[in-house]
Amino acid sequence: MKTCYWKLVENSDNALAHKEAAEFIKAGECVAFPTETVYGLGADGLNAEAVKKIFEAKGRPNDNPLILHISKKEDIDQLTTGLNNNAKAIMEHFMPGPITIVINKSDIVPDAVSAGLPTVAVRWPAHKDAQDFIRACGCPIAAPSANISGRPSPTNAQDVMEDMNGKIAGVLDGGSCNIGVESTIVDTTEAVPMILRPGGITYEQLTEVLGVVEIDPALHGDPNFKPKAPGMKYRHYAPKSPVYLFEGDAANCVADEAKKALEKGMRVGVLCDEATAQKLSENEKLFLANWGSNRETLASELYYMLRDYDRTMPDVILAQGVSEEGIGLAIMNRMRKAAGFQIVTLEKGSLLINGQVFQV
Ligand code: TXA
Ligand code: MG
Repeated sequence: MKTCYWKLVENSDNALAHKEAAEFIKAGECVAFPTETVYGLGADGLNAEAVKKIFEAKGRPNDNPLILHISKKEDIDQLTTGLNNNAKAIMEHFMPGPITIVINKSDIVPDAVSAGLPTVAVRWPAHKDAQDFIRACGCPIAAPSANISGRPSPTNAQDVMEDMNGKIAGVLDGGSCNIGVESTIVDTTEAVPMILRPGGITYEQLTEVLGVVEIDPALHGDPNFKPKAPGMKYRHYAPKSPVYLFEGDAANCVADEAKKALEKGMRVGVLCDEATAQKLSENEKLFLANWGSNRETLASELYYMLRDYDRTMPDVILAQGVSEEGIGLAIMNRMRKAAGFQIVTLEKGSLLINGQVFQV
């Protein structure tokens, strides 16, 4: 299949591109589009046949439900049997924005979208082109991230093309996504709202509005808990090279460990902040991904950096952890998954991984 490409122009209405892309959606095809979090791979969310094409293009397991994207508040009414106060408060304070609510679904939501669950996930993105495109389609848009299943989500149109060229009808290119990690998913169907996936809206922002908010215990990587968002159980966001994530005090040891690995002749990827990057000499910086000093920048560049390592393919990647405050919770969730839970900690002066002494 030939994949159409539309370059969107900033501060312009891009009406023709949205209209042409929407024609494909109405014809039951898939089109990728930008949002403020990551690129989505959209199809008509009320057309089960169209939704199946999303799963095929991504190679996504079909027990993993999709998010329905809307372009205005009222669009949610037809998708649900009713919203409780927590769902309403989230809509009022955080939508449109980088948040998704899980609510009880109505009968018009196909099983292909909800993967047979009695609930549906709904998101109203803040990105102007996303909104205009969804409006032009005239239906809720089912959209997962526009990557091949298991790879880091795409945050620019070139990364979408790398995974989807030839498999989908088109790509709307709106440049880079500014948040860079996916939306926060909150299950609002129980008395206490629960974060199923940390993302663009932080835990702190949610507790300020909702009071008590739980975090799905499975997010800590404990195999005794099954994640409530089916997609969170899969290995994800993982580059092909092995990743070690240095957490807590171990985060300060990344430069020294990189030097040791370089001395052994390894090609070493270092994903770190500016202070750590400064400890490396020029010829130690060959596979450096330096995100500076601001965690918002790390969030917006993380997937690009991880995908870039699939192009350069170092022998090993040493990633420096950050604090879990604010957007840090989402960053650490994605980094832990990218590392396949290979976490390095510093205990009594020794670097440990799974209780053993760490050696690159
Ligand atoms: O920022 C985002 O949310 C992006 C953009 C494109 O909007 N979308 C996205 O979709 O990240 P996806 O499919 O990559 O991740 C959706 C997650 C999956 O982990 C899925 O299991 C979960 O949402 N999910 C969907 N419906 C659910 C439901 N009814 N109950 C629990 N989890 C659900
Ligand atoms: Mg995804």
